[in-house]
Amino acid sequence: MEKAIKITKDGPYIVTGGIPIYEKRIVLRDGLYVWEDGRGLPQSDTYALCRCGRSDDAPFCDGRSHKRFKGQETADRRSYSERANRLEGAGVDLMDDVRCGKAMFCHRHGRSAWDMLKDSEDPEVRNEIIRAACECPAGRTVAVDKDGTVHEDVLEPSIYIVQDEDRGLSSGIYAMGGILILSADGEPYEVRNRVMLCRCGASRDKPFCDATHINSMFKDSRGGSLFKKR
Ligand code: FES
Repeated sequence: MEKAIKITKDGPYIVTGGIPIYEKRIVLRDGLYVWEDGRGLPQSDTYALCRCGRSDDAPFCDGRSHKRFKGQETADRRSYSERANRLEGAGVDLMDDVRCGKAMFCHRHGRSAWDMLKDSEDPEVRNEIIRAACECPAGRTVAVDKDGTVHEDVLEPSIYIVQDEDRGLSSGIYAMGGILILSADGEPYEVRNRVMLCRCGASRDKPFCDATHINSMFKDSRGGSLFKKR
């Protein structure tokens, strides 16, 4: 079956095509945000991921807890290039569509990609901006050279169930590697290398994450054990 994530009306994401799924924790190590492994998750060809945030079997849909969920898709469906602004730096430009899950990979050693732009003539700073842009799981930022060359890592189609250990809460679903995402109305979204989907159920930009899980201190039904200190 085709590798795809199908959004169901007021229900879960149906994932097809044997896309590998991992739980990953965002942790801050020596000034850099990095991924570390979480618990192992069962693998299967097809599975249903919770979209409402209430499942007792997170990250999977439990088949019942979404009964009163209203999951209307509200995201702007124009392409990234139509939605994003191009911010000019001396050595590299930064595209930014402001679709943000606040995963913080755009910050490196205490500086944001936007702050570094003014110093991007320096090759080291330029490389930091490119890394910051490429590692954003929401795909908010894309680094582009003056000649139009787009910097993008090659990512295998995979799904990360994100736990934000730095904040002590659960985050979205990082879908990487150009996975087709189909709306509940059957229309495809633009295929992108990096996309963060909402799994707390409260995003105002569904199906995408807009970081509302931070305000609501979302913890999925299995995430609590990850955050023992809090
Ligand atoms: S979508 Fe089914 S329990 Fe959340």
